[in-house]
Amino acid sequence: MKLKRQLIFICNGSDCKKSGSKTISKDVKEAAKTEPLKGACKIIKTKCMDMCKSAPVVIVNEHFFKKTNSQKIILELKKS
Ligand code: FES
Repeated sequence: MKLKRQLIFICNGSDCKKSGSKTISKDVKEAAKTEPLKGACKIIKTKCMDMCKSAPVVIVNEHFFKKTNSQKIILELKKS
């Protein structure tokens, strides 16, 4: 069964925040307001995932992103 909404887990621990996880949240939220992502994704802010050396850490569906940025996440969301 295919999920209706894609789940995006964004780490909001202090190291990830310093490395730009807030910007990623903001950009993904902005992208989710327009097609084709409108209503298709759900952002979940998490606590530290214990991988601070790879900050910022984001999980989109089953894909794990380390040292990532907004563009990579939005591209992944549009792919699936
Ligand atoms: S702060 Fe994000 S993994 Fe620790």
